[in-house]
Amino acid sequence: MKNKKLIEINRLCKHFVLHQQDGLRLPVLHGVSLSAEAGECVAVTGGSGAGKSTLLKCLYANYRTQAGSARVRHLDVWIDMASAHAREVLAVRRYTIGYVSQFLRVIPRVAALDIVMAPMLAVGMEAQVSRRRAQVLLERLHIASRLWTLPPATFSGGEQQRINIARGFAASPPVMLLDEPTAALDDANRGAVIELIREARRRGAAVLGIFHDEAVRDAVATRHFELHPVAAHA
Ligand SMILES: Nc1ncnc2c1ncn2[C@@H]1O[C@H](COP(=O)(O)OP(=O)(O)OP(=O)(O)O)[C@@H](O)[C@H]1O
Ligand SMILES: [Mg+2]
Repeated sequence: MKNKKLIEINRLCKHFVLHQQDGLRLPVLHGVSLSAEAGECVAVTGGSGAGKSTLLKCLYANYRTQAGSARVRHLDVWIDMASAHAREVLAVRRYTIGYVSQFLRVIPRVAALDIVMAPMLAVGMEAQVSRRRAQVLLERLHIASRLWTLPPATFSGGEQQRINIARGFAASPPVMLLDEPTAALDDANRGAVIELIREARRRGAAVLGIFHDEAVRDAVATRHFELHPVAAHA
């Protein structure tokens, strides 16, 4: 398992076209290359607007890219998320990538516990086992049990973020993409997230994360990867 590469980004280029500004081209990633192996946690650093979230979103196939590749090892086959078909993208997301975005996109009327169970059920885990693991995760992230059966729409920002984290880690995917997972959390919950990330590394996941909080970054990262803003003419 050691030295097994799970993420490989090669000369990735991404720009946005701002249609409301006469098609102005905004370059964000220019020739970014980065790979990560099982057991690693690479902290993506760089100033605000450097393209950190964009890089994660390219790997999750949220964005189309202009050049290069963003490959993930999915069931031992390399899939380029920058050019994969929709069906492949869904399979990779289901089995291989756990993505924790900064904010939970709340699904109306779905209870917190069901949100956390969903990724486990999707990969075929038994309902009882999934429920138990979801409960354990919610307990570890200090979500009061009276909230478990409620939809998170009315939860606090930090509570929603913790539901998001529990969902991302639930099915123990081999690749984890974490976009400021501890931004709205208190010390106890930051500690819980640090533990989850370390466990993921120990079971052989490759983690690519953006950690605003230096203490969290130092506690989990095995190395740093700095993104520099792209010059406007790039
Ligand atoms: N959907 C989009 N459409 C147009 N421009 C975008 C889009 N998403 C991001 N950008 C631009 O791309 C640049 C990089 O954004 P990104 O969110 O990746 O930065 P970041 O490094 O994550 O910053 P922060 O630390 O503030 O979260 C920014 O200048 C942003 O305005
Ligand atoms: Mg960001």
